[in-house]
Amino acid sequence: MTANKPVDFIDVDGKCPFGYYEEARARDTVEFEDRTGFWIAASYGAASKVLTDEETFPRFLPEEIVTDPKYVRTVATPSFLQGDERLEHHKWWLRLFSPKELRRYREEIVSVVVASTLDEFADQGKVNLIHQFTEPVADRVIAAVLGLPWQDDAWMAELRRNFDLAERYKASIYLKPEESEQFAEDALAGTYRIDDLLRPFMEQRKATPDNTVMSRVLHDESLQSWSEDELYGLVRTFFTGGSGTTSVQIGNAVHLLLTTEGLVDQLVDGDDELISRFVEEALRLVPTNHYRNRKIAEDVEFEGASLPKGQVIGALIAAGNRDEARYENAAQVDLTRPNPRQHLTFSVGIGACVGSGLARVILQESIKALTSRLKDIRLDTSAGEPELVGSMFRPYTPLHLLFDV
Ligand code: HEM
Repeated sequence: MTANKPVDFIDVDGKCPFGYYEEARARDTVEFEDRTGFWIAASYGAASKVLTDEETFPRFLPEEIVTDPKYVRTVATPSFLQGDERLEHHKWWLRLFSPKELRRYREEIVSVVVASTLDEFADQGKVNLIHQFTEPVADRVIAAVLGLPWQDDAWMAELRRNFDLAERYKASIYLKPEESEQFAEDALAGTYRIDDLLRPFMEQRKATPDNTVMSRVLHDESLQSWSEDELYGLVRTFFTGGSGTTSVQIGNAVHLLLTTEGLVDQLVDGDDELISRFVEEALRLVPTNHYRNRKIAEDVEFEGASLPKGQVIGALIAAGNRDEARYENAAQVDLTRPNPRQHLTFSVGIGACVGSGLARVILQESIKALTSRLKDIRLDTSAGEPELVGSMFRPYTPLHLLFDV
């Protein structure tokens, strides 16, 4: 297929991949990996070009991802809209998470959810961070922003159970499509069950508009032509796009914080600006999404390689984020870095994450609360040393903490 020597991306599946990324970046060209069948764009420049140039490197359409067209609704998101429609919709999200709205969400929702979740274990001296903090915070904030009953644990657990069915299917279709078929029916049923859970709250907002996001989904001018099924799909997208991603990112940021000497002390005494700089470094160094795949739409010369139409290229976000050609001391946390927000973690261009503003607020409030309220916070490795597991999604797990009460 190619004269280049094969590299083993799959071999780092489930293991810490940063050494592999360094090797991949050190090559001058993008290269083909025999085992994944992907071309690999590992430098900041190459990965960012792949993500930005959607004509040459378009994203996969839902029909191309699922194992059968009837499962499309398990993966559909607004990123699959085309042309002007996509641009219009992108702007809708930007209005939703404008700086003014984000200030309101920070004060009225995010800080409240973070504080009340922390209250649940603050007197216990230890916490299973993922189960007791990062997952509930991410789900609860999104539910609260939408106008769903985030304090109703049983309702939230039922919602999460059904989203997990869809997530299990999605997690396997990208790398192991042949193994994913067994999860497809449950995933599809899960999406309908989620709609049933949402329905009373949607109906209520349909009749009586308020200042929730759900109300805007139902009443905003630019969504008037959307079918009811599409509107429910849009509400589900808030969780599928924003929940697991944010939960993993909070955990990864906390792991970075607790394994980098001196950082906790700096942030305990620090101000909002320092916390926000730390959050950007965590996004850059230990991102949730390590790569995104794109199609190669035409034969093209790219970064020293001849890419054939029809094959797949992976933009290695996590490798580009540590590119020495782009960042001085790229593998180090540096709270004085110029342009700290310029990383690939939320992708770039028209396809960039539309929830990044909310994600940043959740991350900042979480780190602030954990460092200011919990004394002498440290990793508890008695339940296992945290490891960076996964492939496209990479959480540190397990993640248990100790602190003084
Ligand atoms: C730290 C947390 C997050 C990370 C790391 C993240 C990352 C990303 C990335 C990399 C993409 C581009 C995917 C691609 O092009 O294939 C994306 C898209 C998207 N994200 Fe996020 N995201 C986060 C939080 C959120 C939140 C909180 C929301 C919503 C409340 C959200 C909603 C979306 C949506 C709807 C898209 C599709 C955008 C489009 O193409 O139109 N994300 N995100």
